[in-house]
Amino acid sequence: MSEVKSTSNDSEYDYSSMTGSRTMERFIGGLFATSLLATVGLGVTFWLGGQPQIEGALLFVALLGIGVGVVAWGKYLTPHGPFVQEREELKSSDMDRDAFYKSLERGTKILGRRSFLGKMLGVSLGAFGLLQLFPFLRSLGPVPGKSLYVTDWHKDAQVVKVDGSPVTVNDLEVGGVMTVFPEGFIGNAVDQVILVRPANYNLVTRPGRESWGPQGYLAFSKVCTHAGCPVGLYQELTQQLLCPCHQSLFDVLTGATPVFGPAPRPLPQLPLYIDADGGLRSQSGFNEPIGPGFWERGNE
Ligand code: FES
Repeated sequence: MSEVKSTSNDSEYDYSSMTGSRTMERFIGGLFATSLLATVGLGVTFWLGGQPQIEGALLFVALLGIGVGVVAWGKYLTPHGPFVQEREELKSSDMDRDAFYKSLERGTKILGRRSFLGKMLGVSLGAFGLLQLFPFLRSLGPVPGKSLYVTDWHKDAQVVKVDGSPVTVNDLEVGGVMTVFPEGFIGNAVDQVILVRPANYNLVTRPGRESWGPQGYLAFSKVCTHAGCPVGLYQELTQQLLCPCHQSLFDVLTGATPVFGPAPRPLPQLPLYIDADGGLRSQSGFNEPIGPGFWERGNE
């Protein structure tokens, strides 16, 4: 009977030498579990508002757990050849066959444990992949509902300055400008209004707005219809409002119609009236949404 030498990964592989491999399997399983926990922690931290240092540390642990686990698996738990086996050319002896079956049985048990590690790795990677959706999901933000259609301006709302004092008919000279809010909502971004006085007589900017500009006071939403910057500059000579972000110009005498720049539509005008004490009040809220166009409105 001749004998040949061959390279093989199977029967001669000494599984008994891997009794310590159980410890290694536990260690690797622990790494994957740690990675999973770090991934979950990262998701929770991100969802609650985020904290860069904590997120960085958790991301480090999550990736480290997977990385070290995979490397250790490859290095310590997979057979490394080449293995030299002496084998019979033709038929194995009964003793050899028995030894083979026993070895196969032990190997099957080990493979069963390895499949557990495979599942742990899959769960860790799956959780980490799922985490990548979080920035996308969070960027969707809350549904705006009707909030884009309404401000805190309403019928008879008192027009007040930034210090909370009421605006009266004598507060602006012709050519003057002022930022105002509805009483009780000072500083609220969607409520900011730019008040200008191009003349000292009633102004009509468009048909249907005959009573909106008493004694030359005109009020427009300060939120630019292009990208929402505050329209903060009034050029008295040309009677135009300027948005500093992208230089849109709005002609106040024609209802803040855009005459230059990317703004697609006029600034909404707030109808005013003067009460018995000489204070400025709004006749109603805006008759259209303020600010940039959005998906239900378009940029008409
Ligand atoms: S935001 Fe006003 S012009 Fe762009």
